[in-house]
Amino acid sequence: MNTMKSFREILANAKNVLILTGSGVSSESGIPTFRGAGGFWRKYQAQSLATPQAFEANPSLVWEFYEYRRRVANEANPNKAHEAIAVFQNRKLKEGKNVVIVTQNIDELHQRAGAKNVVELHGSLYKTRCTVCHEISVNKNIPICPALRDKGSPDPRMISDIPRENLPRCQKENCKGLLRPHIVWFGENLDEQILQQAYIAVENCDICLIIGTSSVVYPAAMFAPQVAQRGIPVAEFNLEVTPATRHFE
Ligand SMILES: NC(=O)c1ccc[n+]([C@@H]2O[C@H](COP(=O)([O-])OP(=O)(O)OC[C@H]3O[C@@H](n4cnc5c(N)ncnc54)[C@H](O)[C@@H]3O)[C@@H](O)[C@H]2O)c1
Ligand SMILES: [Zn+2]
Repeated sequence: MNTMKSFREILANAKNVLILTGSGVSSESGIPTFRGAGGFWRKYQAQSLATPQAFEANPSLVWEFYEYRRRVANEANPNKAHEAIAVFQNRKLKEGKNVVIVTQNIDELHQRAGAKNVVELHGSLYKTRCTVCHEISVNKNIPICPALRDKGSPDPRMISDIPRENLPRCQKENCKGLLRPHIVWFGENLDEQILQQAYIAVENCDICLIIGTSSVVYPAAMFAPQVAQRGIPVAEFNLEVTPATRHFE
């Protein structure tokens, strides 16, 4: 109880708050986490499809997986955790304080709950990037293109064979390149500017909350130890013990 009381006091007085979130925040909205029972789509482990190798081998398969995920995110609603974070942030902002939300989630549920200053470390389900001219666009259409209408069923018997030319294509007249989800896949680097924004928050916060992340995906896994090294309190909210927990017990 004493710990809870002092946590509340520190939180109430904090001028710069960093909130780091992962897929656990969205699981009660019905969006499965990767490291759990919901981490499968068809016969594939979700993590094996979120790779540049999978996209290269079969872009139709990966686009169907993302069409499915876009539909799930669209049908989901922000839950009490997203709402509490947004309410807390808005209250702090009104007091002239600063709250940065750094998320590994790609579902935009924080924003839909009314959160501001959301740093999306891993991109968004609602953005595409051209594999030829690299232009990033916002696209919230479902289906994302006619060929993906009613596609993306998780039924393991389904096969994916949409021809490349019918997959989402760049809208620029002289490009028409194949689009991919604007998401940082396993094995890819984070955007330098986004990473910089996250580091600024890590260096300036006077309290850090870690919510619903297994703290094993880098570089997010580094943030908590970096904050703790400065002697700043880190509070973790999770259903299980993670590498971050071991650091701060
Ligand atoms: N919603 C999404 O946008 C989404 C969903 C799945 C995966 N991803 C991507 O997969 C990668 C994996 O990262 P990750 O570490 O966030 O996911 P993860 O799957 O590794 O970990 C999820 C964590 O959430 C915890 N958790 C589950 N339900 C919870 C609850 N109700 N309350 C609190 N904690 C709960 C679990 O114990 C686990 O530690 C991320 O990079 C992310 O981009 C995103
Ligand atoms: Zn293009």
